[in-house]
Amino acid sequence: MKFEAQAPSNIALIKYMGKTDTNENHPCNASLSYTLKNLNSTVQIELIHDQSLLETKWEPLIGFNFELNEKAQVRFIRHFESLCKQFGISGRYVLRSANNFPAACGLASSASSFAALTKAAGLLLREVKGVALSNEKMSQLSQKGSGSSCRSFFDEWALWKDLGAIPLELPFTDLFHDVITVDTGVKEISSSEAHKRVISSLNFVGRPERANKRLDVLIKTFQDKNWQSAYETVWAEFWDMHSLFETSQPSFGYITEKSVKALNLCRDFWRREEDGPLVTMDAGPNVHLLWRNDQIQKRIRLREMMQSRGLKLWCTDLKDHH
Ligand code: DP6
Repeated sequence: MKFEAQAPSNIALIKYMGKTDTNENHPCNASLSYTLKNLNSTVQIELIHDQSLLETKWEPLIGFNFELNEKAQVRFIRHFESLCKQFGISGRYVLRSANNFPAACGLASSASSFAALTKAAGLLLREVKGVALSNEKMSQLSQKGSGSSCRSFFDEWALWKDLGAIPLELPFTDLFHDVITVDTGVKEISSSEAHKRVISSLNFVGRPERANKRLDVLIKTFQDKNWQSAYETVWAEFWDMHSLFETSQPSFGYITEKSVKALNLCRDFWRREEDGPLVTMDAGPNVHLLWRNDQIQKRIRLREMMQSRGLKLWCTDLKDHH
């Protein structure tokens, strides 16, 4: 028996950074994300009946050139086993997964892969126990595997306050997503490690309040259809998170010279055009852009400008990633 599910990635505009409970991934503050429908993970769960398999294992999905390091495999299997335990399901399984976006593009894939794993486990539960889980319930379960994955169960905007995310309707829909791929290597400090370290920053005092306040402001700004104010709030938010990294003990950072160059070009673009994309960064050096669907010409102009300055901009709705 095989169960297969897909889930998209998401990009947070108000960031989840810092946990009140590491085991259950309870966030210190609420976060808001936009679902990236073109960046998907697929997970397949196969029940193995014979004795050839002693314990549940992970392997890449057949036909995909995809790898997970040992630590990531253990984490993936542990999440699945914890779901099986909660569902009262036994057996040995092969878990297969892959992303439809290049592994080397430097994008975090834990959100989409854990969401897809939870969805596939939901299919297994339906088959074995006849129980169907809602998206909200699956979001809550997925949070325990990887916090940000709980926001990947909804089509566009997702709001995560404490236990699981919920969908949110905002006036901006059908956005386009680009990534300025500054560095595609594996990062030294994982986001799970970053969550632990930021608590040591003196700037963490007041951070949950700041993020929650910014969330209220951003939602209101979107409701008022004020794109420029949204850009300013989103910009301040990622700098707030990155300044926590830089002021942690020991300090660490992801922003490189190339990231700064890309950010400055985005800001110059906004100044000149009095319009532009929302700009944000995750726990990595790459820069994410979100555009309204009436900004196609501006998007092309920015892409050309980046390319002429030696920066690669990947439009994630297009197949070629460079
Ligand atoms: C910077 O969800 O990867 O992307 O819960 O430990 O798996 P774990 O962390 P993870 O953290 C993501 C952090 C972030 C911001 C965000 O997506 O909100």
